[in-house]
Amino acid sequence: MKYLVANWKANKTVPEAISWFRQVSSIKNQVSRNLKIIIAVPLTILASLKKISLPFRLAAQNLSPFPSGPYTGEISAEMLKDLVDYVIVGHSERRRYFGETNEVVVKKVKMALQSKITPIVCLDEPYLQSQIHQLTHLPIHQFIFAYEPLSAIGSGKPDAPENAKRVADKIKKMTQQAAVLYGGSINSKNAKEFMFKANLDGFLVGSASLKAEEFIKIVQAV
Ligand code: PGA
Repeated sequence: MKYLVANWKANKTVPEAISWFRQVSSIKNQVSRNLKIIIAVPLTILASLKKISLPFRLAAQNLSPFPSGPYTGEISAEMLKDLVDYVIVGHSERRRYFGETNEVVVKKVKMALQSKITPIVCLDEPYLQSQIHQLTHLPIHQFIFAYEPLSAIGSGKPDAPENAKRVADKIKKMTQQAAVLYGGSINSKNAKEFMFKANLDGFLVGSASLKAEEFIKIVQAV
């Protein structure tokens, strides 16, 4: 199974999202059964998508480390469970701008698991040991991991596929052979070669997933 995860980050209004889904859904017959396409949309969009039948899985980009209760502004796993199958946890932007520590990541992962949401856990190489260590008592082989080198995110400068393969192999060894994706400046021009050379389980795509035509090309490449 290969995975293609689109991470929209803080982008798109509801009408923009619906128009994107209309365009991208048109390729559903071309998508192999061995490719799982997962769209991580902002929370504002999730509820409106519930009413539309989509050929894709949905993911949240974040969830609360707490259960439902008096936590103003938070969205708990319990509230998300009917809307998504996956949730991104520990993205470097959350670590950098919102103080998401390894301890918080573990709490969020546990909340996701309690609500049967699969975590997509983002990692970077210098910290692999500490980022994975606290998860090892959990069923990590069922998680999806994403190797996301900081210098490659949003920079237009992806990692070398050979290096991504080396790090992905390392993550696989440390996680009982969990699925490992690569994220960082993947687009329709480099996806095919990257997939071929790095032999990954898939990609986490940020900016290049925002335009429907570009995302369709990435799906076709993968
Ligand atoms: P990018 O983002 O594709 O824009 O580099 C990837 C990510 O942050 O997951």
